[in-house]
Amino acid sequence: MAGIRIEGLSKDFGGPAVVSDVDLSIASGDFVVILGPSGCGKSTLLRMIAGLEEQGAGKIEIDGEPMEGVPPGRRGCAMVFQNYALYPHMSVAGNIGYALKVAGVPRAEREARVREVAAMLELEPLLERRPHQLSGGQRQRVAMGRAMVRRPRVFLFDEPLSNLDARLRLQMRLEIKRLHRALGATSIFVTHDQLEAMTMADRLVVMEGGRIRQVGAPGEVWRRPASRFVAGFVGTPPMIFFPARIDREGRARAAGGWEPCPGARWRLPEGAALELGVRPQDIAADPSSPGPRFAPDLAEDMGAELHIHARAPGGEAVTLIRRAGEAAPSAPFAVRIPAAHVHAFRAEDGARAEPEPVATESETQWRETRSSST
Ligand SMILES: Nc1ncnc2c1ncn2[C@@H]1O[C@H](COP(=O)(O)OP(=O)(O)OP(=O)(O)O)[C@@H](O)[C@H]1O
Ligand SMILES: [Mg+2]
Repeated sequence: MAGIRIEGLSKDFGGPAVVSDVDLSIASGDFVVILGPSGCGKSTLLRMIAGLEEQGAGKIEIDGEPMEGVPPGRRGCAMVFQNYALYPHMSVAGNIGYALKVAGVPRAEREARVREVAAMLELEPLLERRPHQLSGGQRQRVAMGRAMVRRPRVFLFDEPLSNLDARLRLQMRLEIKRLHRALGATSIFVTHDQLEAMTMADRLVVMEGGRIRQVGAPGEVWRRPASRFVAGFVGTPPMIFFPARIDREGRARAAGGWEPCPGARWRLPEGAALELGVRPQDIAADPSSPGPRFAPDLAEDMGAELHIHARAPGGEAVTLIRRAGEAAPSAPFAVRIPAAHVHAFRAEDGARAEPEPVATESETQWRETRSSST
């Protein structure tokens, strides 16, 4: 087990920076997930930690030891990739034990370690099979076994589940978490799948364009996204945004003069542009609401809930949620957005813009009703 410290890490391939000024501290035994869109530099960051990519500016330390110039084989990191190319001519046991053989580990110890790992991964009945005789999930487990048998200080996973079907992904997700609980090794897991990231991470690191945009517990990032980008990227269906401007009193006014956050005041100049965001889970249908009206397009029955694909007043496609059993709307419908659930971001740079709450009479009443009903 080992902690990892990254400071001011940057990297380019002769063009613009692909990883920019990354600072990250990972405590020993943590399971950290790096989430970001394709091309944002996740694999490059992971490969620099593993020593497979030369680091640009900055520092990487594992267990307090600077990694500059340390070859991959001496870093104590084991990597599991999306394309886990197993050796086709070797058995499962041969594949898992190969690294130990190369390292000159005596046969008896090698076999014991392979058996130990195979037991944890439930691969014992398959040890004599060749990779082409395995299912996708079994092959993925062999790839995990190959990494585990080396007893690394750090596990680095680069989208290891992307080639699996949905059911297998879910199963492997749980298996990787269980293994982590059993082994307690520091793990960094890279994915662009936000559901995978939310469910697996002890700590979530959101990247965009080579930079870290937010670090926190998944629930924290979901509840309080630090920027417009994070708000839009984390959460399914995605957050719904609508433009607003600050009026003379510091209130946010959406198109048509409607005030989504009564009681909230921003210390921003009059006319400053905001983007207000709300999660589909926090919106309720309300015919009497002065809020935005959505034009329904298609409804998807998800079983426990109904997803309504609709057009927002500005024309953007959005997805709203209704509970199972509620009817799908057939005509434009109004919604109520509880002020407490509105997220605000500055239009100029996307930074979260926290209001200074000034409770109005109606808001105070609303709070009192809520607290007395709980
Ligand atoms: N060897 C290389 N030479 C030049 N550019 C590279 C090289 N490797 C990566 N890049 C570029 O660096 C950027 C980041 O790539 P990286 O593979 O780290 O992204 P990623 O976040 O892992 O994306 P994905 O989710 O698609 O795997 C991309 O624009 C990519 O084209
Ligand atoms: Mg990648």
